[in-house]
Amino acid sequence: MTSSPIRFVPGGRKALRDWRDDTKPLLKVDDLHVEFRTREGVAKAINGVSFDLAEGETLAILGESGSGKSVTAQAIMGIIDTPPGYVTGGRVEYYGTDLLAMPEKERQSVRGAQIAMIFQDSLSALNPVLPVGWQIAEMMRIHWGMNKSDAMTRAVSLMERVRIPGAAQRVNAFPHQFSGGMRQRIMIAMAIALDPAVLIADEPTTALDVTVQAQIMRLLEELQDERQMGLILITHDLGVVADVADRIAVMYAGRIVETGGIYDAYAAPSHAYTRGLLDSIPRHDQKGETLYAIGGLPPSLTRIPAGCAFNPRCRYATDDCRVGAPPPLVEVRPSQWSACLHAEEVIADAQR
Ligand SMILES: Nc1ncnc2c1ncn2[C@@H]1O[C@H](COP(=O)(O)OP(=O)(O)O)[C@@H](O)[C@H]1O
Ligand SMILES: [Mg+2]
Repeated sequence: MTSSPIRFVPGGRKALRDWRDDTKPLLKVDDLHVEFRTREGVAKAINGVSFDLAEGETLAILGESGSGKSVTAQAIMGIIDTPPGYVTGGRVEYYGTDLLAMPEKERQSVRGAQIAMIFQDSLSALNPVLPVGWQIAEMMRIHWGMNKSDAMTRAVSLMERVRIPGAAQRVNAFPHQFSGGMRQRIMIAMAIALDPAVLIADEPTTALDVTVQAQIMRLLEELQDERQMGLILITHDLGVVADVADRIAVMYAGRIVETGGIYDAYAAPSHAYTRGLLDSIPRHDQKGETLYAIGGLPPSLTRIPAGCAFNPRCRYATDDCRVGAPPPLVEVRPSQWSACLHAEEVIADAQR
């Protein structure tokens, strides 16, 4: 498999080679803050999220529903719904350039072309009344000014690349004529059409059955390897990404509470919340078995508890955990960072 794709961007747009800077990380999110100003109050959705992503690396962002995973992705893409959503602080750097400070017009040339995203719901993300090939080709026509027949030819080869059987014949078919798994492949073809350097997949397989999930994950892994993209996999199911991710970032109430190599977190989680997520991985081989679930519910983001936001649900919590500012991420093992005051105890329990 080739590891160095040619990233050719016709039409005078700023190409990847113009952005790339070997002294800067591919993507760096620094102290990101996002809030939603609603009638019920201000929901503090993202409260100081920082991470970076290297070329060829896969970062899994994990957390229960409502923890801020999608909002983080939307902030990186520059597609936060405003109002009610506002980025109130931080930076999102692409090879050192802060995307948040960029005028919308310039941002548009980054979105989709340099940083692309696939969504969970392929049916609502694709246009139901347009043939799939046309939708893929449109990306190249708009961003690159490619002519229709060249764009259609490339659309077919992208459909072949994501292994849609009979791509040449099905290029004019409509989204509803494909299965959920095949539609997700079409979404992937659209996302890689412009050779992005970063691909964000937000729960890409949640709507699919287990076998198809695994196939889609394998395809993403393969494409990433071939193109050396930075890949962000967002999921609530650690089981799905365990074989694919290099690092994880576990989110709770809009913060990263544990981050590091996936193997370390798997072997011995250092935050009680990560431990809970691990214990609740669905066991696909044990259908019907009652699953462990973390007791209680995530907090309302308009009233996040003082101290560690997880404290009301945590069996390790002590008085220290219930007061003051949230505990910062601390390196508790080489390359394993935890925001839990009882990290040592949590690790020790996992190793028991
Ligand atoms: N469009 C919106 N309007 C109001 N609040 C929102 C909106 N989108 C997200 N939020 C808030 O941000 C929180 C995190 O959302 P999200 O990032 O989508 O969670 P998830 O981790 O499930 O992807 C939500 O629980 C909600 O409080
Ligand atoms: Mg989400």
